[in-house]
Amino acid sequence: ALERTFSIIKPDATRRNLTGAITARFEEAGLRVVASKRIQLSLAQAQEFYGVHKDRPFFGELTEFMVSEPIVVQVLEGENAIAKNRDVMGATNPADADAGTIRKDYALSIGENSVHGSDAPETAAQEIAFFFSGLELVG
Ligand code: CMP
Repeated sequence: ALERTFSIIKPDATRRNLTGAITARFEEAGLRVVASKRIQLSLAQAQEFYGVHKDRPFFGELTEFMVSEPIVVQVLEGENAIAKNRDVMGATNPADADAGTIRKDYALSIGENSVHGSDAPETAAQEIAFFFSGLELVG
């Protein structure tokens, strides 16, 4: 089915000028960018967005990293967009990522792993609504 998923190009990638290269990976996979903006997260916003991880040992490191540089938040649309995006990203830890994936090619570590993508339809809807109004989604 035609789906939408939420994507973040993380600080390690924006810092290295990889916004275009990563966006091209999405487009080459048949995902359409229906919304996109470059923003600077506040620490409070990062803590709220990653609230599900608040008791994890890496929460502080994760949230500090996500505010260290601007990020690019995007909504990607396509057939099975959630799974397709996860395939294009590769495994969370670049050491485990398949050849040809974004994280294999660009990620620096499990924390500085270049991209985030929603893991399920419910989280995709939540994450899209966290950053975008309906008027900003242009299919
Ligand atoms: P993401 O998809 O953005 O969702 C949660 C993030 O936590 C994940 O990608 C990783 O970048 C990060 N993460 C997971 N495990 C670790 C870890 N052990 N150390 C630092 N960051 C981690």
